[in-house]
Amino acid sequence: MKEGRLPPICSKGIRVLCQTGLIVVSLIPLAVKDVFADVTTNRWASGSQILFVKDMRGNEMIENTKLYETIFKRKSIREYDLTPLDEHTLAEIMAHTNALKPLYDDIKIEMKLLSQKDVKGLFLAKAPHYLAVFSETKDGYLTNVGFMLQQMDLFFSANGMGSCWQGMPKPTKEILNRSKLEFVILLAFGKPKEKLHRESVSEFKRKPLREITDIKGADELLEPARLAPSAMNRQQWFFTGGASAIHAYRAKSSFLTAFMFERMSKISVGIAICHVWIAAKHFGKEVEFISDKEAQKHPPSGHEYVITIKIK
Ligand SMILES: Cc1cc2nc3c(=O)[nH]c(=O)nc-3n(C[C@H](O)[C@H](O)[C@H](O)COP(=O)(O)O)c2cc1C
Repeated sequence: MKEGRLPPICSKGIRVLCQTGLIVVSLIPLAVKDVFADVTTNRWASGSQILFVKDMRGNEMIENTKLYETIFKRKSIREYDLTPLDEHTLAEIMAHTNALKPLYDDIKIEMKLLSQKDVKGLFLAKAPHYLAVFSETKDGYLTNVGFMLQQMDLFFSANGMGSCWQGMPKPTKEILNRSKLEFVILLAFGKPKEKLHRESVSEFKRKPLREITDIKGADELLEPARLAPSAMNRQQWFFTGGASAIHAYRAKSSFLTAFMFERMSKISVGIAICHVWIAAKHFGKEVEFISDKEAQKHPPSGHEYVITIKIK
């Protein structure tokens, strides 16, 4: 059973119960398995190059335009051809993880390439491969992981591969023990066994733009944020400010649900911010991420401040 696709018999209550699997998962005894590759990305070397890498076996691999276009058709893929991808492709993928742009460049991140035997948990999408992200636990680290790993989600989709965020499954204990950093989340990926892309934006189940922003005149940047994937499709983000300084906020979870949803919603808001960044770059804008004291002091009701996206 997969998130976002529970059968009709699953009421909202049962769905919430299902989410507690997150905790149960950590109690499941886990087996010992291999890791293909480890990549540490604690520095983003040379400006915004990640989105403009080309050439995978002579083919154009990825361009910003392609990532931007992919925002409007990507979807979570949960059915995979379980045949492993070839080593060259996996090496290219791991090289790409090393070039991702972080939201905060002082947070150390590790990405591990895992196979199915390395991961366990409820609602696991069976895929030939998984990217596991580990991070230092500095302020904003979960949002930073969302921002970075979404670049991989779009990268896969733009290059004919499927992917799906995996909020509940975890790597085996053996693999967890191999990192000094905190395990954050998995992204399943591989050759899709279902349709890779949506045919039109109308196929996205998302809130209307007016429910996620009160900014006028920045639809070209905020529509991509609206389409961003989020844990349980909760879309807990709100944007205020104006077209040149977009303040990003996250809807706070209630006291009762915070322990289940807070981590995932912090990751998710990073994904929406990633879509704003990609759109801004697509339209030739310079982007700077700053902390704005005034915006921090005046969040919309029920929200907490995340970051300000300055568009120049
Ligand atoms: C942080 C995060 C965690 C997620 N966890 C799961 C998961 O455990 N299982 C799953 O099938 N989908 C998971 N998803 C995928 C969401 O259900 C999906 O993105 C959302 O329903 C929107 O659908 P779409 O990605 O097809 O546009 C997760 C997404 C995010 C962003």
